Amino acid sequence: MDDAKLKSIIEKHDRDPANLLAILMDIQKEERWLPKETLKALAAEMNLPLARVYALATFFAAFSLKPRGKHLCTVCMGTACHVRGAPRLVDHIQREFDVLAGNTTADMKLTLETVNCVGACALGPLVIVDGEYHGNMNAGKMDRVLKPIKQE
Ligand code: FES
Repeated sequence: MDDAKLKSIIEKHDRDPANLLAILMDIQKEERWLPKETLKALAAEMNLPLARVYALATFFAAFSLKPRGKHLCTVCMGTACHVRGAPRLVDHIQREFDVLAGNTTADMKLTLETVNCVGACALGPLVIVDGEYHGNMNAGKMDRVLKPIKQE
């Protein structure tokens, strides 16, 4: 992220360290992840210890310190989703997109992540694609949801 963009995000949040979480969320919204160089620049610009910035960036699972693809597919692997077949869905997506969970496809099109319960267990197995929740998933439904991404 360039300096001007980073400064505008910091200014938007009044340069207030109490708004650090919101600042990190805005950076991730722009970049889809939190690049190390940007976190260093943020700490310097706000006069904060880098460790404080990293503590927050690593605490929340929603933040990524690795580059993410254009699309994000998150499969819930909490107990309810797990027993209803979430591991099979992960296997299926891994095969279809040639990517291992926790990683991004070589063309940076899709990041596949897993998460432990998002609080919608009745809908399990649950998959979130670019922020949209898809419940009672199976391989066929998964293919339909991911088809537009595959065809991009
Ligand atoms: S276990 Fe998947 S939403 Fe709770």
